[in-house]
Amino acid sequence: MCGIVGYIGPRDATPIILNGLKRLEYRGYDSAGIAVLVNSHIEVRRDAGKLGNLVTLVEDQPLSGKLGIGHTRWATHGEPNARNAHPHMGATGDVVLVHNGIVENYLELRDELQAEGVQFNSDTDTEVIVHLVERYLSQDGSIEGAARKALNHLHGHHGIVLFSAKHPDRIVAARIGNAGGVVVGFGENEMFIASDLPAILEHTRKVVFLESGQMAAVSREGLQLSDLKGKELEFKAENVSWDPIAAEKGEYRHFMQKEIHEQVRSLTDTIAGRVDFENGRIMLPDLKLTPELAKRIQKIFIIACGTAGYAGLVGKTLIERIARIPVEFDIASEFRYRDPLVDENSVVLAISQSGETADTLAALAEGKKRGATLWANINTIGSQAMRMSDGFVSMQTGPEIGVASTKAYTAPLVDLYMLAILLADLRGTLSEKERRDLVAEIAHVPGWVSKCLEREKEVEQVAHALKDISHCLYLGRGINTATAYEGALKLKEISYIHAEGYPAGEMKHGPIALIDKELPVVVVAPRDPWYEKMISQIEQAKARGGRVIAVATEGDQLIGKLADHVLWVPETPWMLGPVVTVIPLQMLAYHIASLRGLDVDQPRNLAKSVTVE
Ligand code: AGP
Repeated sequence: MCGIVGYIGPRDATPIILNGLKRLEYRGYDSAGIAVLVNSHIEVRRDAGKLGNLVTLVEDQPLSGKLGIGHTRWATHGEPNARNAHPHMGATGDVVLVHNGIVENYLELRDELQAEGVQFNSDTDTEVIVHLVERYLSQDGSIEGAARKALNHLHGHHGIVLFSAKHPDRIVAARIGNAGGVVVGFGENEMFIASDLPAILEHTRKVVFLESGQMAAVSREGLQLSDLKGKELEFKAENVSWDPIAAEKGEYRHFMQKEIHEQVRSLTDTIAGRVDFENGRIMLPDLKLTPELAKRIQKIFIIACGTAGYAGLVGKTLIERIARIPVEFDIASEFRYRDPLVDENSVVLAISQSGETADTLAALAEGKKRGATLWANINTIGSQAMRMSDGFVSMQTGPEIGVASTKAYTAPLVDLYMLAILLADLRGTLSEKERRDLVAEIAHVPGWVSKCLEREKEVEQVAHALKDISHCLYLGRGINTATAYEGALKLKEISYIHAEGYPAGEMKHGPIALIDKELPVVVVAPRDPWYEKMISQIEQAKARGGRVIAVATEGDQLIGKLADHVLWVPETPWMLGPVVTVIPLQMLAYHIASLRGLDVDQPRNLAKSVTVE
C-alpha cells in the first residue's frame, strides 16, 4: 500500500517526511524514497526494502531543504529496487514526482516519449508521468498547467504529488479516481500533503481531502484548488479529530466503508509487481512454483471459511477454466472430516485474510499429513497459514480492520485469476494470445472497481428502500453464485437481517415457494454466459410478486425495465465479473446496516479472526 508525504514551509522537510512515512509503513511496501530541494536543485535518496534502509542512507548522505516529497511503494511495474523506487525525476532534473496507482496506458505513452528521444531510467509506469510534465513545462510557464496537461493523458486511477526546481514556491498534488487519497494539511506558514491522515496528524488537524479530478497547488501561504480543466474550485477546510482511530478512518464513518473504497488501491497493490504487461506474464515468486511441480499437480483442494471461502469458489472456476486442473472446494471446517483423497500430487490451497483461522489451519495440517503441497493466499505476512505453507501469495491489501471482509475478498479473486494464468503458462494449456489477452485485462480491474464506487449514492438510495426488511434472497449463477453467497453474508453479518445466497437454478426445486411481495430478491445478472438464465429468474420472481434488485451491466435496458432497482456495474470479461458484481452488494449491506444504526465495524457475536474451532 503506497504512502505519500509532502512538505513546504520554514522547517527542514527531511525529518517531517521520513516521520510521516513511518506512520504509514504498517501498510506494507517494498521500497522508499525522498526528494528535497537543496539550494535550488533537487536531491533524491531511494532504497529498496524497509524505511530503515532509507533513513540510514539519508544519515550517510544527508539532504535538507524546505520543500520535499517522500514515498513508500508496492512495486506495480518493475522490480522493487532503488532504480524503480519513487520519487522519479525527468531528463532535466527540474521535476520530481511520486505516484500511487497504475498508468493503464503507460506502454503507448512510453513508446511516444521514446520516439521523442526521451531516455527512461526505470521500469516503472510512473516515469512516463514526470517526462510528460517536463514536456509541457517547457511549453507552459506554470507547473500546474504542465501537470494538468500531463494528467489528461493518463488512463487509470492516480494519486500524484510533484514539484519543480523552477517553481520552488509550491508543491502540486492531484487525485484521479480512487487509487489512494490525497489530503492537504494547513499549518502556520507551512503546508503538508499526504496519502493518509496519520502521516501529518502530529502537525495539523485542519485539512482538505482532495476529490477525484481535483488538483492542489500548495504554497506556504495555502492552497489553490482547481479541476483538471484549470477551473478554480472553492473549498472548506475541516478540523479532524486527534483520535488516531478516527484519523485512520479519514473521510469515512467506518473502517468498512473506508476499506470498500480502498479496493481500487488494494487491487492495484495486489497486482503490484506481479504482472509483466509487456510480455503477458504473471510472476508469483513467493509461491515457489516450479515448472516441474506445475506439471505434476493432479488436483487442487481450495479450503477456506466464510468470505474467503466464497473467493475460493470463484477460484475453483478460474483455475479449472484457465489451467484445466481439477479443483475441489471445501469449507475448511468440513475438509478434514471427510477423509479427502489428497496425495503428493495434490495442492491444498488455503485462503485466509488473517492466516490464523483455526479451521483453515487444521485443514492445512490435514493436507500436509497426506503429503500435499501447501499454498496460502493470505493478507497477514508472518501468519501461521503463511508459515505452514510451502509457498504463498500475499493479498497485499494493507490491514483490514472491519470485521466484515471486503478488500480481502476482491484481492483473492484477482490473485486466483493470476495464479490460474501462471499455472496454465507452466502447463502449456494456453496459447500465447490467450495468455496475453487474459493478462491484459488485469490492468483494467482497479478502474472497473472505481466506476462501481462512483455509484455509491445510487446504492444508498436502494438501501433506504430495503432498510426495514427482515429477509432477503440473493441469487446467482455460474461464477456469480459465489457473489450471491458473499452478498448475503455481508448483509447477514452487519445488519442481522436473515439473508440467504442460492444458486438461481435451484429455486424451482423448493425455495421459489418463499417468494412473495414481502421477500426482496437480489439477482446477480451481469452480461456473462449465464445472463439469459438470470433474465428468466427475474421474470419468475416478478411473476410471484417478488421485489427484484438486480446487479446488472451498465446499459442493460431489459433489466432496467424488469427490475425494481438496479445496481449497475461496468462490463467486464466474465471471469473477472465477480470483482465488480460484489462491490454494490458490499455497499448495499454497509448502508442498510448504517441506516439501522448498527456497529458496522464490530458486529455482535463476531471476531475478525476466528482462532477457535
Ligand atoms: C467475512 O466478512 C467474515 N469476517 C468471515 O466470514 C471471514 O471471512 C472468515 O472468518 C475467514 O476469515 P479469514 O479470511 O481470516 O480466514
